[in-house]
Amino acid sequence: MNEQASRALSVGKPRKITLNSCFKAANECKLRYRVLYGGAGSGKSMNVARDYILKLSDPKYKGANLLCVRKSENSNATSTFAELCKAIKDIFGRGYSKIWEIKSAPCRLRCKVTGNKIVFRGCNDLNQIEKIKSITFSSGNLTWIWVEEATELLQSDIEILDDRMRGQFDNPNLYHQMTLTFNPVSARHWIKRVFVDVPSDDVFLHHSTYLDNKFIDAEYHKRMLRRKESDFEGYRIYGLGEWGEMSGLIFKNVAIADVAQEFSHYDDVAYGQDFGFNHANALLALGIKDGNVYILKEIYVTEKDSSEVIKLAADWDKSRLMFCDSAEPDRIQMWSRAGFRASGALKGAGSVKAQIDWLLQRKIYVDRGCVNTINEITQYRWEKDRLTGEYTDEPANFNDDAMAALRYGVQLWRLRDSVGKLRRGEVKYHFKSLEPKRETDVSVI
Ligand SMILES: Nc1ncnc2c1ncn2[C@@H]1O[C@H](COP(=O)(O)OP(=O)(O)OP(=O)(O)O)[C@@H](O)[C@H]1O
Ligand SMILES: [Mg+2]
Repeated sequence: MNEQASRALSVGKPRKITLNSCFKAANECKLRYRVLYGGAGSGKSMNVARDYILKLSDPKYKGANLLCVRKSENSNATSTFAELCKAIKDIFGRGYSKIWEIKSAPCRLRCKVTGNKIVFRGCNDLNQIEKIKSITFSSGNLTWIWVEEATELLQSDIEILDDRMRGQFDNPNLYHQMTLTFNPVSARHWIKRVFVDVPSDDVFLHHSTYLDNKFIDAEYHKRMLRRKESDFEGYRIYGLGEWGEMSGLIFKNVAIADVAQEFSHYDDVAYGQDFGFNHANALLALGIKDGNVYILKEIYVTEKDSSEVIKLAADWDKSRLMFCDSAEPDRIQMWSRAGFRASGALKGAGSVKAQIDWLLQRKIYVDRGCVNTINEITQYRWEKDRLTGEYTDEPANFNDDAMAALRYGVQLWRLRDSVGKLRRGEVKYHFKSLEPKRETDVSVI
């Protein structure tokens, strides 16, 4: 246990906690930028959370305050806030509430011993950015910033955050520092260019993979091996922590934008949903205008059953058609009973390819707020044939829940186009390979 830890722990009734030794240098570093990147499950988030709780509980760092940032403010609740709460409970055990005050809605944390605070923000829109600009703390300054899943942010977001870390400290032990944690999703990402490619005395770089994480379970190793077999490009990024390649990407016709949220702006609006529990349940609101597709908003959650997801969609307009994974008729029924116009999307040989083909023929605009959809769509790639190394015409079957929701959600528009082509004699047997299995599948045409 290091000096910092024992000092913090002396104020409560601590448990013995362990840190992954590969992060030791990162935790000791005082440079302005601490960049922790690499594969999934390497222990980055848990390490950063524990590191901050130990430091913020330590009287040596009195006057320090931490701002945690995700692109979408709400994502903090299930990521940074949850990790930090877990760290508090792991470190201080049952007596944690004597040391830390935990408040949700809005999420905030305060160390009762040092007075140090942790606040949570997003930078999705101007409102949220204004909230970041106006952050003040009753004692001390903004000292540290943790940007989790930093590849979701724009370079301009980071600059605004960087600007907030300024001023003198009364306590000589304090220093400004921004910590970025992320998976290296794309070799073209600005983070690589700005923080990784150009060596700088201000930047501490740290790379890790699940193989460096001594606490990861055997199941996780197996999962990575499965991914290696089924999605090698994904394994390179999330397993080996290598920068993602652009090759094999399915959707290059994508623009991230501020997408109009009023349904009246579009020729039509529909919903697409892929059900999930262990993997994500993805629900998208999609618009079509002048032949282009717009992704307006998303609900993207794991470990929630349908009744919980239905609650999350309480303010969604129920008059719109919703196309769902037809393999789950019970869940479709639940949504129908909740008042949504839910039905199963057509499935059958060639249907995925047909859906993707249709989407490739137009521009897809994704609202900046749909961070999970952006994450998927910018990595959605064709499966590689393991023997020939050639891309197949099947998408890799990984991290594709929002992509399935997108494919399902455009069904009506796609089929309308197909019927038009059929009538005009441009195609003869468009539905030849589609084998609708249930009546609800065809009734939407
Ligand atoms: N210090 C630790 N003590 C105990 N378990 C740990 C520790 N660090 C990591 N783990 C285990 O490893 C898992 C993965 O860690 P973590 O979520 O921090 O990885 P990550 O690098 O942030 O992954 P991702 O890139 O997917 O966000 C944790 O859920 C936890 O089970
Ligand atoms: Mg993480």
